[in-house]
Amino acid sequence: MLQKVISYLESSGYRVLKEIAGSGKYRLLLIERAGRKYVARVASEAGDLFEMQYCKEISSCPNVAVPEFLDENLSIAVRKYLPKTLRDLLDTSGLDDVEALNIALSICRALECIHSKDLVYTDLKPENVGIENGQAFLIDTDSITRPFSRPRFITLDYAPPEYHEWGIVVKESDLYQLGLVLIEMSRHITSCIRSELQSLASMLTKRNPFDRPSARVVASRIELLIERLS
Ligand SMILES: Nc1ncnc2c1ncn2[C@@H]1O[C@H](COP(=O)(O)OP(=O)(O)O)[C@@H](O)[C@H]1O
Ligand SMILES: [Mg+2]
Repeated sequence: MLQKVISYLESSGYRVLKEIAGSGKYRLLLIERAGRKYVARVASEAGDLFEMQYCKEISSCPNVAVPEFLDENLSIAVRKYLPKTLRDLLDTSGLDDVEALNIALSICRALECIHSKDLVYTDLKPENVGIENGQAFLIDTDSITRPFSRPRFITLDYAPPEYHEWGIVVKESDLYQLGLVLIEMSRHITSCIRSELQSLASMLTKRNPFDRPSARVVASRIELLIERLS
């Protein structure tokens, strides 16, 4: 399968640079064409690529690295390469206040748009947030599902109470996961912004999904914090 994909990519003008580490569900190839880098995600089993299902619906969403090219027969999705993930930034403690707030705001904008299409992102965690020039992009789009449905895949460490109890996710499940991400980000912040992020996180991680603020409300709070810093 991989060989077939590589031949296809090469015949389409891409240069395959190397295989990059993924989490196991897919093989990930770093490729280049016309001076731009991309990541090709190849499903190990033919036909095991589900992300095309909702890609059209979210194609206009900001801060989502929607695949620029998809081929169902080859089970391949090609999207832009993002030099770092939020996990990389957290592991190296390289996060200042404004950068952290801009990343949080980018995530809110992506979620706001995904939710407006009546979809749930489902697998928000630092590993799935790509960073480029201080902006965040959601990279892993194949857990996207409809509200009140059982997701195809979720990371248990970030799964909300409604998933543990009922096996389903709702739009507010993404906000619970955002709360967990903000807690991790706040550990790298020493200023007063830390307590602001923690207070947002405590609202976002409420047990009852419908007690959590929406992505729009969180975005407005973060915009005010950014204004305060500038
Ligand atoms: N477009 C990309 N640019 C840079 N790194 C990426 C990209 N896509 C994936 N990765 C890296 O590969 C990892 C796994 O990719 P992901 O698409 O999230 O697949 P999985 O479904 O296996 O989690 C990510 O956490 C990230 O480190
Ligand atoms: Mg992932």
